[in-house]
Amino acid sequence: MTGRRGLGARWVRRRPLRTRLALAASAAVAVVAIGICAAAFLILRHQMTRQLELNLAQTATQVTHQTRGWGPTAGDTSCRYQAVPCVQIVPSDPARDPRERYELPVADATRKVADGRHEPYYSKLTVAGQPVRMFTTRLPGRDEALQVALRSDTVETGVQRAAWALSAVGGAGVLLAAVLGYWVSRTGLAPVARLTATAERIAATRDARHRIELPRGASAHEDEITRLATTFNTMLGELEQSVTAQRRLVADASHELRTPLTALRTNAELLARADRLTDAQRDRASSALARQLREVTTLVNDLIELARDEEPQPLVEQVRPAALLEHAVGAAREHWPEIVFTARIDPAAAGTTVPGVPSRLARLLSNLLDNAAKFSPPGGPVDTELTLTAGQLDLTIRDHGPGIADTDLPHVFDRFYRAKAARALPGSGLGLAMARQIARAHGAELSAEQAPGGGALFRMRLPVGVA
Ligand SMILES: Nc1ncnc2c1ncn2[C@@H]1O[C@H](COP(=O)(O)OP(=O)(O)OP(=O)(O)O)[C@@H](O)[C@H]1O
Ligand SMILES: [Mg+2]
Repeated sequence: MTGRRGLGARWVRRRPLRTRLALAASAAVAVVAIGICAAAFLILRHQMTRQLELNLAQTATQVTHQTRGWGPTAGDTSCRYQAVPCVQIVPSDPARDPRERYELPVADATRKVADGRHEPYYSKLTVAGQPVRMFTTRLPGRDEALQVALRSDTVETGVQRAAWALSAVGGAGVLLAAVLGYWVSRTGLAPVARLTATAERIAATRDARHRIELPRGASAHEDEITRLATTFNTMLGELEQSVTAQRRLVADASHELRTPLTALRTNAELLARADRLTDAQRDRASSALARQLREVTTLVNDLIELARDEEPQPLVEQVRPAALLEHAVGAAREHWPEIVFTARIDPAAAGTTVPGVPSRLARLLSNLLDNAAKFSPPGGPVDTELTLTAGQLDLTIRDHGPGIADTDLPHVFDRFYRAKAARALPGSGLGLAMARQIARAHGAELSAEQAPGGGALFRMRLPVGVA
């Protein structure tokens, strides 16, 4: 039995959700329909029997009033006619029985009722092949029992008919429940089916451009499924964006690597025929080769850093941006001795700490300072400033170079983007992309603007008080 039930449960679990929902909804409605019909049947049967018993009791009372002078009778009317009660009087003492045979069966209980040792009672029996209901009560003041019987076949046929009618209604209810269950599951799960189809299509084609169709005019706050579909679409949008970004990065990287690699190959081929070169030519080729190798190495390292999207959690610690800035400016002074770097640190900001990865933040600063120095006129000052205002650190790096044209401003943080004017200078256009990525990973916003009075100004806003 348990095994069979287990099998059934497994069978249901293996069905698609739509079938299971249809089954559950139909079963619920069917149980209610059957329950109502069964209750109606029981109430009806009880009421009909009760009515018959009331009739019997009434007849018994009437007969009691009319039979003051009667002795024991073997039966007034035989139970052959419908709606006509048959009556007989039975003494407690069998010696006083009438001579004729009793029409209705006389039992021990009947005698006991006659002498008051038993409560009046109803019974169900068959007399002359007919179903009969009988009431046995005591005649007041006499040692006799009164038995009143009525044919109960009308009641039984009524009950039977009611049973048939209610079964039909119940059956129709079950059928209707099945149809309703199927309909409910179909309409209720239609969005889920669409969701599944889209997910399967994406899995098969590996194309994240597909979207789930939402009902027209659906807002994001409608039902759970619509919300799920909207979230799924948002997720797909993000996935598509990230896949596109990755593809672009790979395409850009391969494109950017092609030029230095070609130059590398040319120089390597040249060096392979070193015997045909003069010493000066050989030296030039080998130093060019070394420089190009360095460039490619930097480019590849930068790409690897860019491809890594998040700061590794174990390396996060409390860092003091003021100290980092001082250190970065010190390093820049060594690297660009002809540039005058100034660092103004607001005393309020000097002791502030933020959670971050020191090496990455240092990388961000050095990228910005490198740019400022690279684009400054010889000897041009580069001014850095760190202030604390309204719960955030404000770091600015400003130079007095050509500045960034309005048309370039929206693109300078893109990977590999270099303004036309900058293409003569060394660089691959990855520095600012990396700087912004590091800033975002630290919850900061990095922006570029034209400095008043010429030059470029980079600003980083870093919220404090998170730690
Ligand atoms: N301080 C600046 N003044 C003027 N233009 C700038 C300045 N900083 C950046 N730019 C512009 O933004 C572009 C992108 O800068 P980014 O640092 O990303 O690349 P890069 O310096 O050319 O190369 P890399 O940093 O990878 O060596 C530069 O090529 C330049 O056109
Ligand atoms: Mg740069």
